Amino acid sequence: MVRAIGVIDSGVGGLTVVHELMRQLPKEQLIYLGDTARCPYGPRTKEEVQKFTWEMVDFLLTKNIKMLVIACNTATAFTLEDLMDKLDIPVIGVIQPGARAAIKFTKNNQVGIIGTEGTIRSGAYTYALKKIKTNIHVNALACPSFVPMVEKGILSGNQAREVVNSSLGPLKKDKEMDTLILGCTHYPLLKDTIQEVIGDHVTIISSSEETAREISTILDAQQLLNDDELIPVHQFFATGDLEIFIEISKSIFKEANFQMLTIKKANISKSQVS
Ligand code: DGL
Repeated sequence: MVRAIGVIDSGVGGLTVVHELMRQLPKEQLIYLGDTARCPYGPRTKEEVQKFTWEMVDFLLTKNIKMLVIACNTATAFTLEDLMDKLDIPVIGVIQPGARAAIKFTKNNQVGIIGTEGTIRSGAYTYALKKIKTNIHVNALACPSFVPMVEKGILSGNQAREVVNSSLGPLKKDKEMDTLILGCTHYPLLKDTIQEVIGDHVTIISSSEETAREISTILDAQQLLNDDELIPVHQFFATGDLEIFIEISKSIFKEANFQMLTIKKANISKSQVS
């Protein structure tokens, strides 16, 4: 029986990883779970993020997944080690791939990172970057208004530009920064606007794309790649309202890929939704 790759996020952000996976690994079946009912995770405590993430993981384990992708930087920052310890399938988060790519691209070691309050507060990117290269200079900024805007489906236009422009003010002053990590999987959905605001002299790194590349390497090394010839039907689940989730999925996947998936509501919560 074909086993799927399980992908989790607090909402629609992880779909940017799924999009890349569909492109890079077209034979793989994907099961996605977005905890849209409790999104955003960014302002939540570490304990809450850990609890909610485990609830998502428990749901996906019932689907017999062969690998777990934590397509959420906030959840990666607070749960990656624990999940790697406790699960007997490969587990990958989005922070290390993003950090590795930034090191590859920066020419002057001046790296910016934007993410949720939780990710920035955790210091996980700075740690990951400095672990690879000690003399790297990191300018980290939380952008708490991006995720709620993306979850509403506002991905471009004047409103998006205004929000991105006012949030990135402190980073625009950093004339040295030559590389900027999108340290939240929701942010690639705003990539064009972010690039426009920050300027073409800055290379933008999407942790989503980098993670998809590493997933392919891990599956290959562990001989877990699917060689079945059947075209996969992907299963997407969301814990909240499906209407906006479907709309955003349509705008990300376009018609051909959208035909290849089913979208259903999931009830995973063992705790109060707040
Ligand atoms: N997409 C998520 C991340 O990469 C989470 C955003 C949120 O729930 O605040 O951090």
